[in-house]
Amino acid sequence: MYLQKKDLLTWSNWEPSEIRSLLELAVQAKRQPQDFAQAMAQKTLVMLFQKTSTRTRVSFEVGCTEMGGHAIFLDWMTSNLGLTEIGWEAAYLASNSHLIMARVKNHKDLEEIARCSRVPVINGCDDRHHPCQALSDMLTIRLDRGSLEGARLCYVGVLNNVANSLLALAPVFGVHLTLVCPIRPDEEVDEMLLTRAREADCLEETLDLSRAIQTADYIYTDTWVNMELYKDPNAAKLKEDRVAKMLPFQINRELLKDVKAKIMHDMPIHSGFEITKEMVEDPRSIIFEQASNRLPAQKAIMLRLLGLH
Ligand code: CP
Repeated sequence: MYLQKKDLLTWSNWEPSEIRSLLELAVQAKRQPQDFAQAMAQKTLVMLFQKTSTRTRVSFEVGCTEMGGHAIFLDWMTSNLGLTEIGWEAAYLASNSHLIMARVKNHKDLEEIARCSRVPVINGCDDRHHPCQALSDMLTIRLDRGSLEGARLCYVGVLNNVANSLLALAPVFGVHLTLVCPIRPDEEVDEMLLTRAREADCLEETLDLSRAIQTADYIYTDTWVNMELYKDPNAAKLKEDRVAKMLPFQINRELLKDVKAKIMHDMPIHSGFEITKEMVEDPRSIIFEQASNRLPAQKAIMLRLLGLH
């Protein structure tokens, strides 16, 4: 409906040069936050949450505060978002704000929000993509080793929304991505992103975990069950099946005994499942630095979509 504005629903409709430029803005936001101290003055971000969050909510809200703007938190339970057409609520919200960030269960709802909003919309994680997380992950590697080109990232887990967004960004930055994904749910796999990464010759797919981690600079894992299902009694069987299939792929001391690679996880962590507690706190872990980089990465996203930098 609003053809002129730019959204961040996925990375697929961003040019590689735009994404690389955005990452450098994130580096600047990390190193010189004072440069942006009033950049969002008089600007309001509305944050919609259909699912729970710690990092996404806090980092967007703090990002607005640190840049002189304001963020409003709305969830499904305490607003009217769940009572009517989501697009109409978005159309109203856009009339009273400058930017919308939404975490929804279904990507189609996000597309409807974007269709009806005259202000830019950011995907705060849906069933298919987590673009803000992947940019923060690339920022983390960029800051850790100085450049992304040639970095070897090994993702171990279910091929999910986070893996999709890593798949989208790996070819953009010349990162070699190895996927060790024994479970590939049909509803989450993005064949177009897989094809693109295969054609860019930056992707390896294997189930030989011990071999894959030998050449990795970074080993990345994630939850085996989507957050909204974790405590759902109806998902107990799914969780049981996934744990049985994924336990041989757990990141633990024995697996990493001769490995120098750094350890990443997008959080929240389910210790004892995808990773053991001691590996979260191991000197090789950069998990907490990775989480802290959500802030500068999303500052850059907000600034770019608002046309401020
Ligand atoms: N990684 C991430 O998106 O964290 P939250 O679910 O806590 O926002």
